[in-house]
Amino acid sequence: MVAVSLVSLDSMDSTESTERTANAVLEPPAASAATQARSLYVETYGCQMNKADSELIVGLLAREGYRVTDRVDRADVILVNTCAIRENAEQRVLGRMSELNRFKTANPDLILGLCGCMSQHLGDRIIERAPYIDLVAGPDSYRRLPDMLRALDAGSEPALSLTWDRAEHYLDIDPVREAGVNGWVTIMRGCDKMCSFCIVPFVRGRERSTPHGEVVRQVERLAAEGYREVTLLGQTVNKYRDGEVDFADLLSRTAEVDGIERIRFTSPHPAHFPDRLIEAMAASPKICPHTHLPLQSGAPETLSRMRRDYTPEVFLDVVRRLRERIPGIALTTDIIVGFCGETEEEFEATREMMRTVRFDSAFMFKYSPRPGTASHKRLADDVPEEVKGRRLTDVIEMQKSISETRNRAYRGKTVNVLVEGRSRRDADKLFGKTDAFKTVVFPEREGIETNMIVPVRVSGSTPFTLFGDVVATA
Ligand code: 5AD
Repeated sequence: MVAVSLVSLDSMDSTESTERTANAVLEPPAASAATQARSLYVETYGCQMNKADSELIVGLLAREGYRVTDRVDRADVILVNTCAIRENAEQRVLGRMSELNRFKTANPDLILGLCGCMSQHLGDRIIERAPYIDLVAGPDSYRRLPDMLRALDAGSEPALSLTWDRAEHYLDIDPVREAGVNGWVTIMRGCDKMCSFCIVPFVRGRERSTPHGEVVRQVERLAAEGYREVTLLGQTVNKYRDGEVDFADLLSRTAEVDGIERIRFTSPHPAHFPDRLIEAMAASPKICPHTHLPLQSGAPETLSRMRRDYTPEVFLDVVRRLRERIPGIALTTDIIVGFCGETEEEFEATREMMRTVRFDSAFMFKYSPRPGTASHKRLADDVPEEVKGRRLTDVIEMQKSISETRNRAYRGKTVNVLVEGRSRRDADKLFGKTDAFKTVVFPEREGIETNMIVPVRVSGSTPFTLFGDVVATA
């Protein structure tokens, strides 16, 4: 495994968009270029796709001789990989960029760059708002980073690259991955769904699938490096298609890779769940019994304004088929409250749906209008802020009570836990996840190490965590 660790700076934040991670490499990569080793600090905001992209950026720049550091104050280049999904994600990054700018006082040659979705979204406006930013690169432009950095070193003006490239899969670049038990594999880039609230198609471009042979090669490589779990990533991951190979086939092929014991994927779209996909999931014990199935709203009218391409009935049918074929499957979701025109009745339909499905957990958000999207252009953001706030608190409370009951049902059961490391709250405890994606905390025991799968008998629970003890194996 390459000596890279992804240090979580504030991992207690539960929403994807506010999570921030920083890369830290412990030893220099093999430099191929003549460039003198310069140090690179990468900070990542947003979804798993962004984390995977940061690993790609590190892989790409490692080839150029950059050495990653976890000391932001020692970096020659700081790259912030950003998220544009909600406005507060952007505000937070802008604040952070101005903080990072302070390091230029001590190091006037420092290059400060903004990568990812926010770059694509704001374009050159970002340099107007934050003139100290030297480099702006969108998700299809990372291949240009070495040239852009060289030009900046040679004294050029701020560099901007926001090209769209439908053919860009970054196939020849091996990501430098975080040390950990899970390896991300990007199997699709972009999105063609055009949900009315969502900025992703505008910042990540058109949908394209990585050739299946390449996906399998990456999974094999991860297995050879010692990873036991992989997560296949795509914005609408279950729409994967490469010629005759669809997502169900790809899952089955991935499951054939020796050494990999857990396969996860995120995020699927509820409108693309044929029986053959559910059969493929049920057929292999390696494919984890957990699906993140973003509901967004439980009201047909809201779903239609959101252009989600399914009705509540279709969603419930997917849930029914998944639970029938994969008993014990955990289901998690995303909910948006206060979308344009959401009435009390429509909001109540979302609550009703949450009561019916009883998700294991949920990410819940207030609608945030994103310039450029259909809902921003054509619909009024007319739910008052205080109503959005009340609805959000309401669903959060409701979900907490459902998660509490669901987790309580694990008490007395034995679950298999893939050990991820030491608990952040309790230094003499370890933590890991079950195949159903439940976090389990348990006392350390002789011989138990990161990356092992161990049976843990659950004795306690909260809405967010299970607690227990390792049981002796035969
Ligand atoms: N406002 C609020 N939440 C949003 N999401 C996507 N776009 C918006 C928006 N404009 C949420 C959806 C999605 C998750 C990743 O972020 O719930 O599934």
